[in-house]
Amino acid sequence: MQRVLVILGFLVAVGLLSAGVWSYGYRQALSQLSEKAEADLELAADRLTTQMQVYQELAVLMASHPVLQQLVTPQQRRRAQAVLLDVADKTAAVNMIYLDPKGQVLAAAQPLVSRNMADDLAFRRAMQGALGSAHGVVPISGDRIYSYAAPTFDAAGRVIGAVMVIADVQDVEQTWRGSTEAVFFIDGEGVVFISNRSDLLFWRRVEGQQGLVPTEGADVDFASTWVGPHELWKLNWGRYLPNRALHLMLELPVIDMTAEVLVDVAPARRLAGLQAATVAAICLAFGALLFLATERRRTLAEANAVLESRVAKRTRALTAANTALRREVHERQEAEAALKHAQEELIQAGKLSALGQMSAGISHELNQPLMAIRQFADNGAAFLARGRDEKASENLRRISDMAARMARIIKNLRAFARNESEPMGKVDLVQVIDTAVELTEARLKSEGVKMNWQPPNNPVFAWGGEVRLVQVFVNLINNAADAMSQQDERLISISVKNGKKLAVTVRDIGPGIENTEKLFEPFYTTKAVGSSEGMGLGLSISYGLVQSFGGKIRGANAQTGAEFTVELESYQEDEAA
Ligand SMILES: Nc1ncnc2c1ncn2[C@@H]1O[C@H](COP(=O)(O)OP(=O)(O)OP(=O)(O)O)[C@@H](O)[C@H]1O
Ligand SMILES: [Mg+2]
Repeated sequence: MQRVLVILGFLVAVGLLSAGVWSYGYRQALSQLSEKAEADLELAADRLTTQMQVYQELAVLMASHPVLQQLVTPQQRRRAQAVLLDVADKTAAVNMIYLDPKGQVLAAAQPLVSRNMADDLAFRRAMQGALGSAHGVVPISGDRIYSYAAPTFDAAGRVIGAVMVIADVQDVEQTWRGSTEAVFFIDGEGVVFISNRSDLLFWRRVEGQQGLVPTEGADVDFASTWVGPHELWKLNWGRYLPNRALHLMLELPVIDMTAEVLVDVAPARRLAGLQAATVAAICLAFGALLFLATERRRTLAEANAVLESRVAKRTRALTAANTALRREVHERQEAEAALKHAQEELIQAGKLSALGQMSAGISHELNQPLMAIRQFADNGAAFLARGRDEKASENLRRISDMAARMARIIKNLRAFARNESEPMGKVDLVQVIDTAVELTEARLKSEGVKMNWQPPNNPVFAWGGEVRLVQVFVNLINNAADAMSQQDERLISISVKNGKKLAVTVRDIGPGIENTEKLFEPFYTTKAVGSSEGMGLGLSISYGLVQSFGGKIRGANAQTGAEFTVELESYQEDEAA
């Protein structure tokens, strides 16, 4: 809306400016036109008056010609006539007449219709001793003529006659036929007597009016206005006269006429129009450029604003996403911590479960040496009483051995059951398997399971945590024993392969694995549900533990029985550094 108003305002301003330029240009052009027209008019008037003066002077000169003083005999008259004809021919006068004071023609260059010219205005004035002049129309031919009459005097100074020179107006007009401007001369009665536009001849100016009319009382288009010092006529007087014209007047008292000119103002209007149009075009072009520039800036600003709002929106979205992500990360961290906690609890539960399985065997294992110790102590006391010190000390040594063995078993159990995080590092794999075998030994012995375990001569070091590795192998041995519980022959073989990676294989001769796919899933068990025997956690815990050492655990069926392989990273000295 505002833009439309600005554009309208601009257009109005351009219109006003153009109008001003037009007006100024028009006046300037009119002034120039006026100067030229004035010069033209003066030239035309000069020509006319000069021409007329020639005939006027001719009349005066001829008045004192000697041949006209004596006109009595026909011979004298013929001579005078010949002179007049000669002069008339040479000066292009229509006629030259010599008249007596009564107006009778005494001699004439051309024959005349009327022999008396007593009524002629010019003649009458000459009879008064002055130079007379007149103009009019020849009745039959319709030629416009003007005449001069000069008196002739006798020796006493009385008027004895007059010489009349008659000239044709058309001869004068001829000289400015080519002139483009319409020039006309109005006589004392207000009638157009001479003009280079024949249409205008005999038009008249009614008293008190500016324009002209063809005949008195007739009505023609006419209006007169003033533009500055210039008078403009608006008319519709035929195709040879301009519709709008600059009107100039020049009084010519010598010949008692007014010279007037009508100059077409169309060129001035065209020039002013051209100037105004040029100014308008320049202004409009400039305005258009300005408009385009502002439009461009506006669209740029709009695009910028859109972009900025988009960026802001995007930033908001990103910030929101960021906070959401942070929250998620936090939740994940919490979940991870919870998981870790749960895993630790699970490991502990797994250990306790394994201990549960082994508890019968262990209590038997501890009970037996206890009974033996009691026996050895009793025997020792008896030997002492009998004074057999040697036997008594031997018994004491055995007691000590057994106590040491019990202490070792208890130490192992305590370490196994302890619920504390243990650092990872260098682990003696043979030692680990020894401990696992030792822990399960009691159970295996009570169930009649044979153990085939030949530790290698050289120590094998793996990367891991000792107690947790023990837990893995206790699990595997317990599972193998469980699998073979329904058969008579029971054998577990453990072997260690020391290659690029360390691999421990635990093999049994049981019925084999039912479902190798689900083996490591938590709570997958084929053992009686709810019984203390199986929770389905042993292998899943072992899996997690081995993985945490960067190793792998696999279960597969061998030709007879199942075979579990634990792969571990061998311990490199530089890793510890
Ligand atoms: N040596 C094996 N021979 C045959 N099947 C086995 C053997 N070891 C494991 N399995 C199968 O894998 C299952 C899962 O063993 P896992 O040790 O995870 O649980 P579990 O022994 O049943 O219970 P627990 O939680 O007491 O260990 C066992 O129930 C058994 O079906
Ligand atoms: Mg198990």
